Amino acid sequence: IPVDPFDLVIFGGTGDLARRKILPGLYRRFWAGQMPEDARIVGCSRHEMSDDEYREEVRGAIQEFAIEGKEDAEKVDAFLEIISFVAVDATGDKGWKELAKKVRDEVVNAFYFSVGPSLFGDLAERLHKYKMAGQDTRIVVEKPFGHDLKSAQDLNATLRKYFAEEQIYRIDHYLGKETVQNLMAVRFGNVLFEPLWNALYVDHIQITVAETVGVGGRGSYYDKSGAMRDMVQNHLMQLLCLIAMEPPHHFEPDAVRDEKLKVIRALDPVQPEDLVRGQYEGDDKVASYFDDVEDPGSITESFIAMKLHISNWRWKGTPIYVRTGKRLKARASEIAVVFKHPPHSIFGEKANERRGNVLVIRLQPNEGMNLRVTIKEPGPGGMRLIEVPLDMSFADALGPDAGDVADAYERLIMDVIRGNQTLFMRGDEVEAAWAWADPIIASWEESGERPKSYAPGSTGPEEALMLLYREGRRWRDVK
Ligand code: BG6
Repeated sequence: IPVDPFDLVIFGGTGDLARRKILPGLYRRFWAGQMPEDARIVGCSRHEMSDDEYREEVRGAIQEFAIEGKEDAEKVDAFLEIISFVAVDATGDKGWKELAKKVRDEVVNAFYFSVGPSLFGDLAERLHKYKMAGQDTRIVVEKPFGHDLKSAQDLNATLRKYFAEEQIYRIDHYLGKETVQNLMAVRFGNVLFEPLWNALYVDHIQITVAETVGVGGRGSYYDKSGAMRDMVQNHLMQLLCLIAMEPPHHFEPDAVRDEKLKVIRALDPVQPEDLVRGQYEGDDKVASYFDDVEDPGSITESFIAMKLHISNWRWKGTPIYVRTGKRLKARASEIAVVFKHPPHSIFGEKANERRGNVLVIRLQPNEGMNLRVTIKEPGPGGMRLIEVPLDMSFADALGPDAGDVADAYERLIMDVIRGNQTLFMRGDEVEAAWAWADPIIASWEESGERPKSYAPGSTGPEEALMLLYREGRRWRDVK
């Protein structure tokens, strides 16, 4: 889908996110020929820098983070020509007039707030004051969107003073991942799955987002957040919504977001026995969580596993197990829909000891889908049943370039320019997710309970395994 000419201003233009994701992502779109000729990108940050100095920074970011094979010098030079820089003081008046002169009236204007949320209000106010906030102006904000319900409400109120909801693009980059969108295509583009997609046929659902990295250099941010605020309230919640929501009447922003919101509101409070928090230990190769955050007394979790219930007709009685953590065995994320056994086995009870049908949606790595089905073992040995995968790796099915689909950020930024909010969180969704998370966080903050330790490279604390074992289920071996 073509993109109109635009001016994109990145506040925090020299920050980590801009370097790692935003600028390399924009370059990849440029490389793919998706950027209109008349696009302009303006980096902003507090410190003075010339256009050329900034361009060299961007060149470095592209070389480091834009996918191999796309760094041909000519293309990079052409991309750098559309980039310029203005030093702007978010809390003062320096630089704003100059910025206002650069931003053109006749093209789409988007302002990316790649800065801490404490500056959102200042930026919004100055965009207004310097007449850059027209009716069609878009602003893009990043997580963390608040720290709890109150702070999220305050942020929403601040932004809405200057911009309408239709102008605010709250990024959750998980919504930009290829397979996450494919989840909707598979659910609502086929008749095969949707009739079975409910508590009658689904035994349970597992959502796993496992990482091998530790909290590394982000210790001071992470220690105030933990896995619940950093991953569950946003990314895992979004996955849960897409897997559990009712079919929206159209693939349109409010239709999709209305259905997601209903899922969040239908979530039951989580009981203490249905929740396990963990913290990674160190070994001879990697530092412990304590060392990473430089606080031996920290009780912040780097791992969390939970059993969730959605109280509505579709899902009543089907548990949804979610887990996420750092320093785990593998970087692997997937959603598994585990179906029930056939109501009666004509092959004898033993046949029902098997796993049954499982639909796995692999987010990363090797994006794809896998459906486990039961068949007869080939050969003359009688009716022996085995399970085989019907496997679709995007790269295998669609050619090697399929794996090279747009990264989440580049897709989402292009959606901002197109004015399509479907893959962005609406203010009420974010607030509902905090309203659900707050009491859970408060319960462990009050108890002061320490998270369970787990070895680096493991699957998390033993207790997380028990969440399922005790119910005759087990986590999938995610790799
Ligand atoms: C970020 C979290 O939002 O998502 C990080 O703050 C986490 O802690 C990251 O590592 C994971 O994203 P991805 O795309 O690498 O799975």
